[in-house]
Amino acid sequence: MQIEPAGIGTPVDAIETPALVVDLDSFEQNLHQMAEFARGAGVRLRPHAKTHRCPAIARKQVAAGAVGVCAQTVGEAEAMIRGGVGDVLVTNEILSPGKLRRLAMLARDASVALLCDSAAGVDAASRAAVEAGTQLGIYVEIDVGMGRCGVAPGASACDLVRQVVEAPGLVFQGLQAYHGRAQHFPRFADREAAIGAAGQAVRETRSMLEAAGVPPGIVTGAGTGTHRLEAESGLWHELQAGSYVFMDREYAEIEGPSGRPEPAFDHSLFVMAGVISVSGNRATLDAGLKSLSGEKGLPLVYGRAGVTAVGMSDEHTVLELAPGMPALEIGERVRLIPGHCDPTVNLHDWIVALRGDQVAEVWAITARGASQ
Ligand SMILES: Cc1ncc(COP(=O)(O)O)c(C=O)c1O
Repeated sequence: MQIEPAGIGTPVDAIETPALVVDLDSFEQNLHQMAEFARGAGVRLRPHAKTHRCPAIARKQVAAGAVGVCAQTVGEAEAMIRGGVGDVLVTNEILSPGKLRRLAMLARDASVALLCDSAAGVDAASRAAVEAGTQLGIYVEIDVGMGRCGVAPGASACDLVRQVVEAPGLVFQGLQAYHGRAQHFPRFADREAAIGAAGQAVRETRSMLEAAGVPPGIVTGAGTGTHRLEAESGLWHELQAGSYVFMDREYAEIEGPSGRPEPAFDHSLFVMAGVISVSGNRATLDAGLKSLSGEKGLPLVYGRAGVTAVGMSDEHTVLELAPGMPALEIGERVRLIPGHCDPTVNLHDWIVALRGDQVAEVWAITARGASQ
């Protein structure tokens, strides 16, 4: 882990670059807006910690009303619980006995749940919980159109739920119904149709469980791109949105109901870079692919109309200025909005939280690299 990049009170222009920074006013606006939305819609909020891998942020989400957080890996769950979060759902199928042992041990200090989509997964989780003398919550994942994990909705899901209900050490909690692909469908109508179909699958599975006399538990799922649709359907009880706290270029570009991009949340996460070379209409920054993930394209330049990122390499991003734009100066700071927030955060050890032009807090990304 690298040393802290800046102390409290450091002026923004004195932070070493490249640095991952958060604008606290925008961050808090996002944090409270989503919490308020969930409260108003009568659903629980369990934000996804894969976005930030940072317990300081998870604690703020819980303080704002979240019931706990989601994690995608056992390492993320460990970091969140060590960092003071008391309720974690691992939204993934975990099969390895070693990882399940770690999860079952965590359940001594916190409420811990995970997903299953196979009989083998249920058996393995049950064995780990019994050996550790703890209980693991289980959500049966149904494939609602994503085509990644999940058992088929309906009869197959009901069979698996029955197995969970009978397994020692496990507590059946409900269904995981997450349509990840739909989150970034550019057209609102396509997202609406996808979540409509997902809702049909949820409804059918719950009805079959009820008909068989099995309490169906709750339904959890949803991301930033579709959370309103799940909440307003009346079929989901818990939202797992993650990116809303930061936003990124990919999310800023999807269309709202009007047919135009109309992001509901502010950009709060930036990679702050320094200009290290200038030539004609080109300026080169000291941050590249080792500071910003590139798989979703080039970053946006924040607050500088007419300045566009045109290329990225390991340690550099090249900007181009439109004719007539004021030149960028050597040493100047530029804020970049990453293409995709989650993998960008995973490239850094610290988030520097700014209030206006000063460092107000510095947060450790303690689950950075915790992919096991
Ligand atoms: C299972 C699950 N739930 C929720 C989310 C959060 O989605 P988003 O960051 O798009 O809000 C993700 C993100 O990949 C996910 O995999």
